[in-house]
Amino acid sequence: MPVKLAPSILACDFTRLGDEVSAIASAEYIHVDVMDGLFVPNISFGLPILAAAKRAAAPGQFIDVHLMITSPERYLEDFAAAGADGLTVHVESTPHLHRAVQMVRDLGKQAGVVLNPGTSLDTLRPVLADVDLVLIMSVNPGFGGQRFLPQSLERVRTVRGWLNDIGSAAELQVDGGVSAENARALADAGASVLVAGSSVFGASGAAAGLSSLRAALTQEHA
Ligand code: DX5
Ligand code: ZN
Repeated sequence: MPVKLAPSILACDFTRLGDEVSAIASAEYIHVDVMDGLFVPNISFGLPILAAAKRAAAPGQFIDVHLMITSPERYLEDFAAAGADGLTVHVESTPHLHRAVQMVRDLGKQAGVVLNPGTSLDTLRPVLADVDLVLIMSVNPGFGGQRFLPQSLERVRTVRGWLNDIGSAAELQVDGGVSAENARALADAGASVLVAGSSVFGASGAAAGLSSLRAALTQEHA
């Protein structure tokens, strides 16, 4: 299966949100980073921007909402109503992870769980069979443009093995510092969806950024 791309609109020019979303019309996912200034040390945006991104999205593009907020279960219904197709919650953000996953499923949306770089992968095991997506953070969440943590590759390999062992078709997503330099290695480790902010919405524009990621993924091994 070809690896899917999920540009993060956190890195886009918000004065031109509609145009920026149109420029990534060929991407399978649109990644929406919601930060509350409590779970992470930064505030990004919330429901109105998600709804606007949804309106600008191409038909069939998956609206992938990464909730970096404390007790995300308080807002799952609102984000689902605003246009999310998938809702991903941090294992560190709630004592009721399984309930949050069930709530997303009950809303008819894809349920994702995400781990910070310092969180044991074992926290994933009790919910692994019940999720549609696992997200491995390859930076500490809160900001775009950070350096990829190389130990993330091994974490991706481990979770890919666990998903294969239980016959799960869940997506395995990686987020943080993803670029044309590491995309191929992440795909080889078992990632199925790559989130990319600054490497897509960089100086040369989103369309060019997407193309260079796709080129990196399809090039032959040296
Ligand atoms: C970080 C966010 C990421 C961020 C990625 O907390 O979850 O999705 O936008 O940005 P880059 O690709 O620039 O690391
Ligand atoms: Zn994210």
